[in-house]
Amino acid sequence: MQTGCTLWFTGLSGSGKSTLSHLLGARLRELGERVEVFDGDIIRTQLCRGLGFSKEDREENIGRIGFVCELLTRNGVIAIAAAISPYRAGRDELRARIGNFVEIYMACPLDVLVERDVKGLYKKALAGEIPHFTGISDPYEPPLAPEVTIDSSSQTLEESVAAILLRLEELGVITAQGELISAR
Ligand code: ADX
Repeated sequence: MQTGCTLWFTGLSGSGKSTLSHLLGARLRELGERVEVFDGDIIRTQLCRGLGFSKEDREENIGRIGFVCELLTRNGVIAIAAAISPYRAGRDELRARIGNFVEIYMACPLDVLVERDVKGLYKKALAGEIPHFTGISDPYEPPLAPEVTIDSSSQTLEESVAAILLRLEELGVITAQGELISAR
């Protein structure tokens, strides 16, 4: 059985996880891979419907997404997850369980995110209207040794996709032609 991999995007709200994960997924599909993208915002309306933003609920959210990624990874699929996943321990647990796990840290500075405020949530969070908002009134624990770090304030989307594909090649996850390498 061919082994796939999990590409796990972590970072603050608005840091570009969804956009980049969908573009990366499309690119890998063009290269002939089977890919599934799990976007926190969408998953929370389905598999994780009803979960909130307490530490327990976030851990449950990440655990469920991670479980599905694990199943797909062992069946030769590239599973891409894009969720804030603020707690280091939860991410490290998935890494240990899944094995073929590549952590992609979206490291955009908070002041840029507040300035951009695509969804208008930072303004509300800063006004105290959204309790436990990650980066404002709730913790975010950055990865200590992510395989890839992307800063959407200084890298374009295309540069970011290229950097990730190159790193996947360096790590021996895919070949230069974009073919998945079974086990690493
Ligand atoms: S996670 O912490 O459990 O990984 P997830 O990525 O699924 O979070 O969802 C984050 C998205 O939910 C944000 O991009 C934002 O749109 C929305 N959201 C609503 N309330 C909060 C909050 N308190 N903290 C962070 N994001 C929130």
